[in-house]
Amino acid sequence: MSMHAPIAHSLRDVWTAKAEGRPMVMLTAYDAGFAQLAVAAGVDMLLVGDSLGMVVQGARDTLSVSMADMRYHTELVRRGAPTALVMADMPFLSDATVESARLHAGGLMQAGADIVKIEGGAAKAEIVSALTESGIPVCAHIGLLPQRVRQLGGYRVQGRSEDDAARILADAHALADAGAAMLLIECVPSALAERITRQVRVPVIGIGAGQGVDGQVLVMHDVLGMNPHPPRFVRDFLRGRGAVVDAFSAYVDAVRTRQFPAEHESYA
Ligand code: KIV
Repeated sequence: MSMHAPIAHSLRDVWTAKAEGRPMVMLTAYDAGFAQLAVAAGVDMLLVGDSLGMVVQGARDTLSVSMADMRYHTELVRRGAPTALVMADMPFLSDATVESARLHAGGLMQAGADIVKIEGGAAKAEIVSALTESGIPVCAHIGLLPQRVRQLGGYRVQGRSEDDAARILADAHALADAGAAMLLIECVPSALAERITRQVRVPVIGIGAGQGVDGQVLVMHDVLGMNPHPPRFVRDFLRGRGAVVDAFSAYVDAVRTRQFPAEHESYA
């Protein structure tokens, strides 16, 4: 398996990749060893996701992940990937107010993050703007919001109805206008994700959102076939390969050549 070099090392590179139409590859990472392998395979950005609640800690969702957990895992990932672009999730309710968001996002930056990710729609615009003004780049996570899974009654595709799609489109514009450095859109029909990606200037990373975005993100454990109940949009890249680094490299290759996600791995 031939290895790629990452095409993005900074947020500026991410914006350039969007302008040049080069698909970016993001993968979650929670520790130093796997972070190192992901970068060696050519992954552009590492996400220290609060999915660690499920895949590392065995919880039923992300709600129990604490700020201390996020800081700890961000430090580990930074140690394993000293020059990579690292994004860290703001855990549940850590961004409930502007003051608390500033305090906690600052803690993640001090732990080694280059950018923090906040879940929520237009209602989070004020927080995005305040953090950006404080020098903290923000990725705004829209579409399916895993921190609201109990309220939503499960992990469901969002934006299927006209009203819901219009709301998510409005969220994207509000957050981009507030200064978000990136958007991450989860589990929406491909056409909606593509429309948002065309309309906003900021780079859009998708998961379960089809091909029409600027880059893809997957949870590492899904890429390695470790999820006994994988959602429709994931692919086991380890199957048929002998080493984890080959699986990561196959994922990078499939995104860069636009062979992932295939149509059956997207929502219409
Ligand atoms: O926490 C996480 O890993 C995420 C991805 C699902 C995008 O937010």
